[in-house]
Amino acid sequence: MTEFEKPSPYPDQPSPARMYDYYLGGSHNFEIDRQAADRVIAFFPNMRYAARANRTFLQRAVTFVTEEGVDQFLDLGAGIPTEGSVHKTAHAKNPRARIIHVDIDPVAIAESQRILADMPGVTPMVANVSEPDTILNHSETQRLLDFKRPVAVLMVALLHFVTNDHELYRIIQTFREAIPSGSYMIITHVSYIEGITSDPTVDQVESVYAKATQGFKIRTRDQVVKCFEGLEVVEPGIVDTVHWRADSTAEKPDLSYFLAGVARKP
Ligand SMILES: C[S@@+](CC[C@H](N)C(=O)[O-])C[C@H]1O[C@@H](n2cnc3c(N)ncnc32)[C@H](O)[C@@H]1O
Repeated sequence: MTEFEKPSPYPDQPSPARMYDYYLGGSHNFEIDRQAADRVIAFFPNMRYAARANRTFLQRAVTFVTEEGVDQFLDLGAGIPTEGSVHKTAHAKNPRARIIHVDIDPVAIAESQRILADMPGVTPMVANVSEPDTILNHSETQRLLDFKRPVAVLMVALLHFVTNDHELYRIIQTFREAIPSGSYMIITHVSYIEGITSDPTVDQVESVYAKATQGFKIRTRDQVVKCFEGLEVVEPGIVDTVHWRADSTAEKPDLSYFLAGVARKP
């Protein structure tokens, strides 16, 4: 596989953004990312499948809220906006939809700038989700999004990289309070499935991400459910990504271990 254009300085740590790109079969990653991602795959062989299941959930969820009339998206932890990303999915339904892709990874955002160059209504932004006010008050956010009308806030496969529980709920609360009634929050989070997820696997995966630019923390179902507090979760509730309004014909798809939900602010 050829390296994509090398940034300077060359990264000396794997990043979740580029590892995820590798799971999805993309080319926006470096040897250091591939080695770390391959270690995760060795501990959790379904990782590529789980990443694809998460991405296809994202597409179904964005299509759903677009059909509900939402045309503004704040995509937090957006990653590299390749196939099936938020702007492509939203634009397929509404070419006038506005999207801000936020990510902490400067390499991912540099790639986004290249991919999104001159695309009206779509802006990449380097920012840390742990600083919600910086994102909400950013001049691009103010320019592109109208917080008097419904906005969809996406935190898809992001929150397990926020390892402090107190910070996790503070972040969600700040975004929830910033959006008006009729807005949506779309969340997925890696979670234990009682009796299935083994502790050694979790420890091994967490140990790989401990050496990456962002740590990783798996949470219980109750902890994930708490992310949706104050919101009305739409049917079918908070379920594995593969069970959220799936159009797959597979009768019993493998679980992805990503819990997913779409919720409306009353
Ligand atoms: C697994 S990817 C998910 C990408 C996309 N949301 C999806 O589900 O297809 C997680 C992304 O979250 C980003 N991320 C992790 N911690 C972050 C933080 N504190 N602030 C902003 N982005 C963060 C990573 O850089 C990575 O691109």
